[in-house]
Amino acid sequence: MSLRSPCTRWLALCLFSSSVLAASPDGVVAVSHPAAAAAGARILAAGGNAIDAAAAVQFALNVVEPQSSGIGGGAFMLVHLAKANETFIVDSRERAPTKASADMFAPDGLPMSFPLASTSGLAVGVPGTVRGVDTALKRWGTKTLADTLAPAIELAERGFRVNRFLAADIANDGGRTQRHPETAAIFRPGGVPLAEGDWLVQPELAGTLKRIAAKGADTFYRGEIARAIVKAQQRTRSELGDAGKGRMTLADLAQYRVALREPLIGRYRGWTLAGMPPPSSGGLTLLQMLGLLERFPLGDAAQGYGFGSPKTLHVMIEAMRLAFADRAVWIGDDDAAPVPRHGLLHPEYLAPRAALIKAGQRMETPQAGDPAPWEPAAVPPAPSRIRQESPHTTHFSIVDRWGNVVSVTSTIEFTWGSGITVPGYGFLLNNELTDFNFLPAADAAAGNPGANDVAPGKRPRSSMAPTLLFRDGKPVAAYGSPGGATIINSVLNVTLNLVDHGMTMQQAIDAPRLSVTHAAGKVSCEGGQDFMRPRFGIAAQDALRSQGHAGLGETGTDACKETIGSVQGIVIDRAVGEHLGAADARREGTVIRVRP
Ligand code: GLY
Repeated sequence: MSLRSPCTRWLALCLFSSSVLAASPDGVVAVSHPAAAAAGARILAAGGNAIDAAAAVQFALNVVEPQSSGIGGGAFMLVHLAKANETFIVDSRERAPTKASADMFAPDGLPMSFPLASTSGLAVGVPGTVRGVDTALKRWGTKTLADTLAPAIELAERGFRVNRFLAADIANDGGRTQRHPETAAIFRPGGVPLAEGDWLVQPELAGTLKRIAAKGADTFYRGEIARAIVKAQQRTRSELGDAGKGRMTLADLAQYRVALREPLIGRYRGWTLAGMPPPSSGGLTLLQMLGLLERFPLGDAAQGYGFGSPKTLHVMIEAMRLAFADRAVWIGDDDAAPVPRHGLLHPEYLAPRAALIKAGQRMETPQAGDPAPWEPAAVPPAPSRIRQESPHTTHFSIVDRWGNVVSVTSTIEFTWGSGITVPGYGFLLNNELTDFNFLPAADAAAGNPGANDVAPGKRPRSSMAPTLLFRDGKPVAAYGSPGGATIINSVLNVTLNLVDHGMTMQQAIDAPRLSVTHAAGKVSCEGGQDFMRPRFGIAAQDALRSQGHAGLGETGTDACKETIGSVQGIVIDRAVGEHLGAADARREGTVIRVRP
């Protein structure tokens, strides 16, 4: 069941109020697939909390949306505990093996081809999802791991109907479901790609999930499953030879630990946001963009800054370009090397960068700035580097009847990950290590810290950005998106729609999005599907073209036909004591409300 928020006067009524919630509002799940949403709803209906439901959704997504996330990958889980009014991040990002090296994607000094490297075992990071879910359940859950695995086991054992999104991803797989026989056997039985409406049963995956249910998370990281993972990631592409073999060992799996982190906190026009800290760039880059945009009267149509106006789109593009220039140089796993997170968000650092945004004129390609003066330990600036990033992953959001919120973005990196299914165990391995720099960027002379260079045990930089919006110290909305580097821009679009353009969560999700993911990058924009309203008009696109923005094609044409991200969000409406959800038609987004 899809739900549209009745909270039409979002700014005035729904969020500014800090009145206390009614005693028992509904639990709400918003997920990109109905069967995974039903798994979460079932756990809420059985008295589970948002953390329990999130575990069930994550495992179910592995079954019904296996191309996007699963136990062979990693995730960032934002958990807000209502009673304590505290927010935590469970970082179950994949890690590089201890034998990883900075030059492993460029052994001869030249970067490997992305299609080859990303379908080789070399790209497989030590998976974190099982440990992450287990950690969250043990800390804050009320159900067992087995309870939360039950819906996924049923889906894998009994099967489910392939939806049009999974069918399209099999049909347009770039060879990733064809290369390895175990993957082809699941998604192309008898050599025929599964089509929409086909029934998919996954007995090996069911067996793996049952094993985890019976023996606990450790069974994934030690013993026969671990041995099978290590063996599977030794597969390579013939063009790469031994250089394409994965370097993960049994010890890497046995030693995998999640990190519990504080969220990154920032403010925008009186609202507070809690987002992802490094190793994700999601929070820092989002907050930078908001900081750069705050001086513009977004939402004020009288001044030309209404939704989709040339002025609004121009300043969004320029803020994205500036923030992505910094991201390329400064952001990586700051457990491995410090990220200047204070400097990057300092108002005195952002003010001169915001001043680079000129009305009606695309700026020259911006370089990363120098946040060092605002950091305790000085770090100099450096030029940026550009690399390919994947547009995939998944996001879901949950609020339970008590007001606990969980917002999760999880991934196996590219659609279909490495394409390697662990033989006998039925799950895909990630190719997350391709989120690292292929060519090492560290260059002391040029002042480049190599923040995202490969190193043993390091986590590759992510863009995942589960985000919690607060008003008067209380959470009012949670949302996030898949989409590689475009994740951050999808979350920015939705944030501006909510805060500046006065939209409901559903309107904010439906509205077309705009994205640029590199300082020198081209503009991508949406509008090709009926629900994406209001459209970015051709006159507005022409205005952007005349300002020098690339990627929009010929004057007078409609270039806004892309699909960017898939946002699933929840809303806590304190004025009327309701919990609401909103889902994205860019996938099979589904909201289910559960009465207490
Ligand atoms: N692999 C997608 C991300 O972490 O941003």
